[in-house]
Amino acid sequence: MTHNEVRDAFLNYFERHGHRVVRSAPLIPHGDPTLMFTNAGMNQFKNVFLGLEKRDYSTATSSQKCLRVTGKHNDFEQVGRTARHHTFFEMLGNFSFGDYFKREAIRYAWELVTEDYGLNPDQLYATVYLEDDEAYRIWEEEIGFPTERLFRLGKGDNYWSMGPTGPNGPCSELHYDMAPPEGRLRTPQEVEIGGDDAFVEIWNLVFMQFNTNEDGTTEPLPAPSVDTGAGLERIAAVKQGVISNYDTDLFMPYIEAVADLAGLDYGADNEGSVSARVIADHLRAMTFLVADGALPSNEGRGYVLRRIIRRAIRHGRLIGLTEHFLYRLCGLVAEHMQGVFPELQESRDYVARVVQSEEERFGRSFESSYRYFYEEGIEPTKASGGEIVPADVIFRAYDTFGMPLDLAVEIASEHGMTVDEAGFKELLEGQRERARASWKGSGEEKTEPVFHAILD
Ligand code: SER
Repeated sequence: MTHNEVRDAFLNYFERHGHRVVRSAPLIPHGDPTLMFTNAGMNQFKNVFLGLEKRDYSTATSSQKCLRVTGKHNDFEQVGRTARHHTFFEMLGNFSFGDYFKREAIRYAWELVTEDYGLNPDQLYATVYLEDDEAYRIWEEEIGFPTERLFRLGKGDNYWSMGPTGPNGPCSELHYDMAPPEGRLRTPQEVEIGGDDAFVEIWNLVFMQFNTNEDGTTEPLPAPSVDTGAGLERIAAVKQGVISNYDTDLFMPYIEAVADLAGLDYGADNEGSVSARVIADHLRAMTFLVADGALPSNEGRGYVLRRIIRRAIRHGRLIGLTEHFLYRLCGLVAEHMQGVFPELQESRDYVARVVQSEEERFGRSFESSYRYFYEEGIEPTKASGGEIVPADVIFRAYDTFGMPLDLAVEIASEHGMTVDEAGFKELLEGQRERARASWKGSGEEKTEPVFHAILD
């Protein structure tokens, strides 16, 4: 199945079962100061779950553009090095706003996975929240799911919250074993700890029941609801018989284009392949972000976009791409995905201009920032037998040369070192204090602490 067929099969299944197909919301959420970027399918329905907003449908399905680079759901550092971490991804979901609850949510998931996707039931595992006897009973008695592959797990795995505030509830996950070990079943610990890329969580069914307020109190939602999230990239990997999401048709066109440009032997050159995957991932994120209205800047959302573009530029340098290249490859993302996301077609030239101008800006300072960081940070630290690059060097690399903290962390780690992040944050906070003292009345106090969470 191509990734387009995986997406269509999901949306068509739920449409057949009476759900309204809803377009993905933009990556930049409207009217929710608790959220920097859309990071789950349920975000656009938050107020519907809370009973604050009514729609003319009580069940819905979508393929939601998501970005997880900040706050609670943050995968940035892992990207390119693992089979599954991405900044940008699509979350397939079905939702019930006080309509159906656990029984139907579990039945739908089971039917879609085993019939429409045709996955082998013997390779599926299900988990439920420790105390959720009802979900356990539905799996065991109504679905007939074998209990040796049905696990009860604690809050860390089987309880989902949107963030410190907002809707939450126990959940039930489906995992698929792409390479069952000889002569034994998987254990609950293998779900909890992970580590084997062949054993993959494909779907999370959240039984939304509560809302947590800003003062920490929790109250029941107006009606029990359902929020589910299935990773398109993961199901595509399972259906295409590849362990890594990067080997699917969602990423390979970009990886191949990058490898071509760089003359890279993808797969054979280990570190070069990491760079190609980082670039492929970041290309998708920057294209969708700019199309949805983000611009590179030094604050908040714009700074996240800047970090993404600059990290991609650096990985380009690592594989010998010194000319501007990202802006041209962004067009490939539009080409591949504009059928589903028409906003990419409309903004194609604009995205290229924005990305190119950031490439020009950072391209000019890249060599000097790297040289400065290396000569003033890495070398002297190494020479003195230390392992931590001092804060003032990182701060100057950031402040004068535009090197984002995570690039400093990444470069240091390539030399077996860490950086004094706490010291850097202190220096940065000091600079912000001075800026605040000289600039009154932004009117953005409510969102500021949230946006600054990128440094936490
Ligand atoms: N909101 C849940 C998640 O993000 C299910 O979609 O996992």
